[in-house]
Amino acid sequence: MNMKGRDILTLQELSPGDIWALIDECFKLKREWVKGERRRRDLEGKGVLLFFERPSTRTRLAFEIAAASLGAHPLYASASELQLARGEALSDTAKVFSRMVDCVVARVRSHGTVEELAKYCTIPVINGLSDSHHPTQALTDVFTMFEVKGKGRLKVAFIGDGSTNTCHSLLICCSKLGLDVVVACPHEFRPKSEVLEVVMKNCDVSGSRVEVVEDPIVAVKEADVIYTDVFVSMGFEAEREQRLKKFLPKYQVNRELVSKAPEDFVFMHCLPAKRGEEVTDEVIDDPKHSIVWLQSENKLHMARAILRSVV
Ligand code: CP
Ligand code: NVA
Repeated sequence: MNMKGRDILTLQELSPGDIWALIDECFKLKREWVKGERRRRDLEGKGVLLFFERPSTRTRLAFEIAAASLGAHPLYASASELQLARGEALSDTAKVFSRMVDCVVARVRSHGTVEELAKYCTIPVINGLSDSHHPTQALTDVFTMFEVKGKGRLKVAFIGDGSTNTCHSLLICCSKLGLDVVVACPHEFRPKSEVLEVVMKNCDVSGSRVEVVEDPIVAVKEADVIYTDVFVSMGFEAEREQRLKKFLPKYQVNRELVSKAPEDFVFMHCLPAKRGEEVTDEVIDDPKHSIVWLQSENKLHMARAILRSVV
């Protein structure tokens, strides 16, 4: 699959073949990396801009290290430090980006911002998280699942806030690849209907089964993977108290809930975690089941696969 020049905004723009190609590329690059082959020259002389409106640890590090390890020059720019903060148009900013660098990884408040960037940039734009989608996370997550569990028809139980960027992207990615997902969430935190519509159409093509339920025990019963994300995502801090009342204690991934899962389940979390809220220490720190640190490392390998494919 030739992905040069392509944007990655929601994953819906990628075919299952494109996603499999990224996963295979990630396996190849990780094998090299583990052998100590950490320098490539594929992107020699190119620039990768990280344009971020929100904080980040994993995504920022992954793309900075990925770009440098492929021979490119990574450049981080917080939106608050650009002339954009003084009113320069995003469309004009995008044109300047396109004249100076070869790819933009953008972390934005509103998904519309990354869409507008992609509209005006003549270089590939990668969504490094928006309020509604987190595609590079989902690519990393399915890669990690296949690495640990082997490629196959895995069953994923997503517990908690089904309306997060992470849950939406996981649903899109899994439904493209033939994986099954059960989301367990309170009714008002179901995945957004426009995302579910797209996901159900993907299911018709791939044969995936996607369900949304309210009971987390039903969701974890046959799960290969138990996945959660924070109850208070970036931008929702003002709703913190109301949200915690809705989610706790029922949707916390704790020892009692995971005791209902098959013996060989794995626990995943995009991180950062809010320990004691969506997950307890005993689950996230359980060396037998938790693969969250491997998952966070894999963001680097997937960032390399993405940059090598689109730039
Ligand atoms: N999972 C994730 O995107 O982490 P950061 O917010 O630290 O980038
Ligand atoms: N849903 C979380 C993901 C963080 C990586 C948030 O948007 O804050």
